Amino acid sequence: MRVLSGMRPTGKLHIGNLIVLDNWITLQNSGNKTFFFVADWHMLTTGYENVSNLSEFTTTLVREYLAAGLNPEKSTIFVQSAIKEHAELYLLLSMIVPLGRLERVPTYKEQLRELKERNISTLGFLGYPVLQAADILMYNADGVPVSEDQAFHLELTREIVRRFNSLYGRTFKEPKTLLTPKLLGTDGRKMSKSYGNTINIDTNTREMEKMIMPMKTDPARKRRTDPGTPEKCNVWNYHLSFGTSKEKLDEIRHGCTHATIGCVDCKRILLESMKRRLEPIWEKIEYFKTHPKDVKDVIFEGNKRARVAAQETMKKVKSAVNLVH
Ligand code: TRP
Ligand code: SF4
Repeated sequence: MRVLSGMRPTGKLHIGNLIVLDNWITLQNSGNKTFFFVADWHMLTTGYENVSNLSEFTTTLVREYLAAGLNPEKSTIFVQSAIKEHAELYLLLSMIVPLGRLERVPTYKEQLRELKERNISTLGFLGYPVLQAADILMYNADGVPVSEDQAFHLELTREIVRRFNSLYGRTFKEPKTLLTPKLLGTDGRKMSKSYGNTINIDTNTREMEKMIMPMKTDPARKRRTDPGTPEKCNVWNYHLSFGTSKEKLDEIRHGCTHATIGCVDCKRILLESMKRRLEPIWEKIEYFKTHPKDVKDVIFEGNKRARVAAQETMKKVKSAVNLVH
């Protein structure tokens, strides 16, 4: 399967992004042809007013991709804005996407409301999902791992494929959505930096404790002697996401349902799991910070590979649209 996904360079990755990356890495390591990129043009659609950190954030993101386990030998890791073909395809796709369709995209309406302080009543922001479609179709992706909130963008991508193919002949295939479940924030709401319920992956143990210890647990466990149900507890999901061992999980389930372990103990075990999972990543982040050339080389090589694939696609696309001069 050809697989493609990307993230916007918003700064540091948090543990929710890490779960997404885990999923990418599984796809990378199970014999798929994988493309993972930094969506820096997408970042501009809402962040065009302040670009001072853009290139630094792009480097940070690639560094964290690598630290988390993306492997440049197996995956093509690249930066969107370095592949000009994305802009060209975006332009061509924009010709065939009805305006009303874009105005009905839920993320569009929601962001307009949420980012009131920014002026994003722009052509660029309206076109966000079309640019995303161009990213996906450029590499002929069969599968696109994304979370639920991106599902509409994938639906629109498939609509664009059908419209393009019916106008110009079969050129693209419809990509599948590979849904990645989301980890909730430490307060049980959707994980988002603006809610302050996230934990950065390069955090330290003390910060982690400060976020984990106050987490709400199964409300049935008012007292330590009240039994609970792990499935009703966000801490349990964190255990599952951070690789708490099977034995420990059994122990916790038994302890929780029989009220023989307290939530504080359970969270201590979680902190151990998180530390075990994150420590090697912290080390790699430090390594890449002191070896910036390694990161640069990965981007350079990845861009080169992506460009070859993109040029091939554009040749087909331009000939389909009869732009052959
Ligand atoms: N919109 C995606 C997000 O915010 C990022 C993205 C841009 C993307 N282009 C993509 C994801 C193409 C998958 C495929 O998470
Ligand atoms: Fe949640 Fe663990 Fe407490 Fe059970 S013991 S309610 S799983 S924190």
